[in-house]
Formats: sequence, C-alpha cells, structure tokens
Amino acid sequence: MKILVGVSGGIAAYKAAELVRALQRQAMDVRVVMTESATRFIQPLTFSALTNHPVRTTLWDEGELGAGVEHISESTWADAFVVAPATANILAKFAHGLADELLSTIYLATNAPVLVAPAMNSKMWEHPATQTNLNILRERGVRVIEPDSGQLACGTIGIGRLADPEEIANAVLNALGRRHDLAGEVLLVTAGGTREALDPVRFLGNRSSGKMGFALAEAAQSRGARVILVSGPSALYPPANCELLRVTTAEEMRNAVLERMTEATMIIKAAAVADYRPTHVAPEKLKRTGPLTIELAPTEDILAAVVERRRPGQLVIGFAAETQNQLENGRAKLLKKGADAIVINDVAKEGIGFDADVNAATFLTRTTSTEMPEMTKRKLADRILDEVVQLRRPAQRVEEFDESAAPGVSDERLPVKDEPFLSPRQKRIIIEE
Ligand code: PMT
Repeated sequence: MKILVGVSGGIAAYKAAELVRALQRQAMDVRVVMTESATRFIQPLTFSALTNHPVRTTLWDEGELGAGVEHISESTWADAFVVAPATANILAKFAHGLADELLSTIYLATNAPVLVAPAMNSKMWEHPATQTNLNILRERGVRVIEPDSGQLACGTIGIGRLADPEEIANAVLNALGRRHDLAGEVLLVTAGGTREALDPVRFLGNRSSGKMGFALAEAAQSRGARVILVSGPSALYPPANCELLRVTTAEEMRNAVLERMTEATMIIKAAAVADYRPTHVAPEKLKRTGPLTIELAPTEDILAAVVERRRPGQLVIGFAAETQNQLENGRAKLLKKGADAIVINDVAKEGIGFDADVNAATFLTRTTSTEMPEMTKRKLADRILDEVVQLRRPAQRVEEFDESAAPGVSDERLPVKDEPFLSPRQKRIIIEE
C-alpha cells in the first residue's frame, strides 16, 4: 500500500516523522509532501532520508511528469492521502477548493481516501469557521482524526494536540479496509437526548449532544458495518453513508428502534432517553401565573423493550449515565435490563460525558469489567467496539479446574481477562471452537 503523507505548517510537523515510521512498520510505502510553511518547522531532508523518496514542497518541482503537474503524479500514486498535522489554514483550503500550493492541489486531484489529523490552538479548533470547514469535509467523506487534549505549544492546556501517530496510522489502516472486523454487521445505534413537550415552545430535555452515539456510528462504519443511526435533536453531521433517522421524543425513538431492530445484528443504546414525559401538553404557551406543578408519566424503557424482542445472536449494549456508585448502579442496570453489556460513564466528573468531546467509561458484562480511561469519544467508540467484537468470539465455557489433574498450568496461560467473579486458579476456561 502506498501512503502519501501531507505535512502542513504547525509545530506538530516534527511528529509526522513518527507517523512515517508507524506507517512503515505496517509495510506501507510512504512519500511525503510538505507546504512551504511546514519546511520552516522540519527539513524535507528528514523525510526523504526516512522514506527514500524525494519530498515535494511546491507545484513547480521537476518530478516524474515534469514541472507544474507534480500534484497529478503524487495524487494518482497514493492509495491513501493523510495530512498530519492539518492546520486550520489547510483545512479551510480543502473545504473551499483552493489550490494555490501543492497539498491543496493534491487534495482536489486525488481519488484516494483522504484523512486529516488537525493540530492547532484550542481557540482555533473551537472556532465556528474551523468546525464548519471540518463538517464540510466530513460530509464529503474525509476522515477527521480528532486532536487530543493536553499541553499545547502555546503554553495553554486544552484540545488541539495532534493525535498519537500510532492512532493516525491505525486510522489509515481502517480507511484502507485493513481493519474490517465489523464487515457484515449491521449496527443500530441511538444518540442524543430526547425532548418531551410541555407546551408549543418548551420541553423537558437533557444535555446530551449526540457526540458519543455519532462517534460510535462513525467508528463502526469505518470498520465495515452498515449503520442505522437513530438520533434525538443534534447539531452534528452524520458520518457519510450512514442512515440517519431523526426523532424528537422518547416515543418516536422507541418506534424507530423497534421498527428497524430486526435488520440489526448489534444494537448500542447511547442515547439519553427521557424517563418521564408531561402527562398533559398545554396547547398554548404556558403563562407565568405563580407556582406550577407538572405531572409526569414514565416513558417506556426502550432498552428493555429491545431485550424482550431480540433474536438469538443479536447483541444488545446499553449505556448507563451515573453520578454516584457507578459500578454498583451499572451492574444493577445490566442485570435488570438484561443487556449483554453496559457502558458506564461517570457523568458527575467535570469535563467528560454529556456534551464533552471526551469521555471515560467502564465496559461491564456479566463476567468482565474493562476500564477505559479518559479519551476522545471517537477513540472510546473504537475501544467499545473492540469489546463488542470480543462478545462475538466463540462462547467460553467455565469449568471447575482441578489443579492436581493438570499440574503446571499456570494462571498466566488461562485466557481470562478482567475476570471479577472467578478466580483463574480455581476455574479453567475452555474455548469452544
Ligand atoms: O450525547 P453526548 O453529549 O455525547 O453524551 C453521551 C452520554 C453521556 C449521553 C452517553 O455516553 C450516555 O451515557 N448515554 C446514556 C444516558 C442515559 O440515559 O443513561 P440511563 O442510565 O438513564 O439509561 C440507561 C440505558 O437505558 C441507556 O442505554 C438508555 O439509552 C436506555 N433507556 C433509558 C430510558 C428509557 N426510557 N429508555 C431507554 O432505552
């Protein structure tokens, strides 16, 4: 596979050398093109020495096809084009079709999958102009590898650090279909919060943005799954080629999920569904006349309804947003709802969970508990899917292990991961092929 790495002018440009190495470890043939600004941060010589290929920096290099058409030879050579770091400027050029230097011209000329790994100051990342440009690119199928949070070159702490080069290399592999472990699966995922009307202008709602559910949809799709995304109101753009069903109330979400669940092989319920709705919706806007009491009726538990109707082999994963006793409450929810697993997030923790770009979770099954520390929701989505894929593995049968009958079998050799209930010394896990 041939990968073209585009380097634009940010302080993180030096990390592109690590990316080149990470791609080469995957047996990729790598070439590098740079903007003129990038050459101020790192020398082209570094990349030509690493890749054994000349490094192009302008449209006017005398290349294989001759000066002035070098962008064509580079763009047709590549199986994938990844820009890391991608500055706000290069993203804006890509989004608006400018072609006044080599990188942006290659973007217009290539048919290969394009990935961008942005890196910039937090304020620039959060600016509506940058976010709009990213959404334009996402809509066109460009894969955006979200930046990390941490100490930035400008001395501040926030989001904007280039993603880990290994993660970028993995995203390239995914884009090339090298990690297609969800091929053949159909994922139905719910996202966002629901809204229950009080009157024509007011509703009871929650702070869910949809980011977690959309991240799961994007991750599953890039791993080969067909995705049906049922979302409450959200300002996010859906991943390209993913079927989006927009709903508003818990009842609409229930109807959409129950109607489409027969197609799904996996159902993940990341939505924050209203537990109650007003029993009466005022036909006119409520006037402020003094204290007001609103009577609420419970909504139907969609997750429970899904579990009740599931067919054999259909995986059902719930989420649990907890503010206290996370593990205890999560375990109770897992058993009560009858799902295969529950993703517990501590939504009382500052800066994660609802409406944040990052989240941390515990993936809980009846026999395992896997901690997932704070990371971007996109990365967490992949970690969650890694665990879901494990649930698809051949069934594991647990038998009493008589140590005297098999001396020398050490704990390390037993394929037990995060086993909270069973001691590996006393039990033996037999994998049924
Ligand atoms: O959207 P973001 O801003 O990215 O935020 C993500 C998130 C915090 C909303 C997400 O990570 C999350 O935790 N989602 C579940 C929130 C929630 O409603 O949790 P719960 O503990 O109230 O519900 C447990 C499970 O039952 C959930 O899978 C929920 O979808 C489901 N449920 C709840 C009520 C109901 N009437 N029907 C349901 O199916």
